[in-house]
Amino acid sequence: MKWLVAKRVSQIRILEAARVLRAGGLVVMPTETVYGLAADAFDPCAVRRVFELKGRPSFDPLIVHVLDTAQLVTVARAVPASVRRLIDAFWPGPLTLVLPRRAALPAGVTAGLATVAVRMPRHPVARRLLRAFGGPIAAPSANRFGRISPTSAAAVQKEFGADTPPVLDAGPCFHGVESTIVRPSRGGFEILRPGAVTDAQIARATGRRVWLRGPRPPTAHPEAPGLLRQHYAPSRPVRILRPGWRSSPPRFRGRDALLAFREGIECFPGVVRVLSRRGSLREAARNLYRLLRQLDESGARRIFVEEVPAGGVGSAINDRLRRAAGVGDRPGG
Ligand code: TXA
Ligand code: MG
Repeated sequence: MKWLVAKRVSQIRILEAARVLRAGGLVVMPTETVYGLAADAFDPCAVRRVFELKGRPSFDPLIVHVLDTAQLVTVARAVPASVRRLIDAFWPGPLTLVLPRRAALPAGVTAGLATVAVRMPRHPVARRLLRAFGGPIAAPSANRFGRISPTSAAAVQKEFGADTPPVLDAGPCFHGVESTIVRPSRGGFEILRPGAVTDAQIARATGRRVWLRGPRPPTAHPEAPGLLRQHYAPSRPVRILRPGWRSSPPRFRGRDALLAFREGIECFPGVVRVLSRRGSLREAARNLYRLLRQLDESGARRIFVEEVPAGGVGSAINDRLRRAAGVGDRPGG
């Protein structure tokens, strides 16, 4: 799929990256959602390096990326029939499945959980790396823990500076928000993190009930720490603007910044960025993290973000906006 790759990556670079992974090192891998910090999923030391570089708490498990179902069965013990429908419909693609794990998988990858989160990426460069390496790749988003996920090589560089591992730069990511995380449960599917695949798409493909997980009381061992209240966050304070705010706006100041969904903002005193001029949710998702980063770096004192319409990938965007603001305990509403 041509539209997924803005920049060519030579086969020599892919083979070099595979060699780094085999030697227990890390590389940065483009995917169709966001860039990932990649390690050999079966090398416990390499996996530990991922946690160290991200500053990620050891209770927060990683996603394992597989090339095909042959690799899938090396990490997952069982694939329920209901989940096969999801695999047929959405793999390769931005859908992560939570499945019973195989004991051979190092415990660090899954943070000691009995399940593994696994996905088959669609991005051709990720697939070429998986093929060249020849095994499953553990890869969280390539950002420091709790921060905004990177959707370009430049954003990865900003996260890790001189510590940045070799980056396979394939240009901007197509979806721009992370994969949807789904767990089979009580005859249906529970969405642990809304993402690029929508709940409606899952319901349509499977004919089963699909629901977004509601708020959980905080525990020491969250089942999906991506659901932590404060996550995907800029360094500046973020404030949500609810629908209808334009008719009675808060009092803005000169050093405020605004991330608007679509055009039509008048008289804002500070920097304004627009997610999608034509009001497309897909385009908004693609631009979300790049523009949030720009505003974060603009010297703004506060960043106001406008909620987007709730349909489709809108619930993933609003989920990330709320988490950026530190109020994200009720996804998808
Ligand atoms: O789009 C994506 O999913 C990107 C690209 C690189 O693939 N990856 C990504 O990974 O967003 P990360 O580590 O930033 O987020 C993984 C999320 C975390 O919230 C983690 O808690 C959850 O997946 N997770 C991992 N294993 C899990 C499990 N066994 N059960 C429930 N949640 C799990
Ligand atoms: Mg992440």
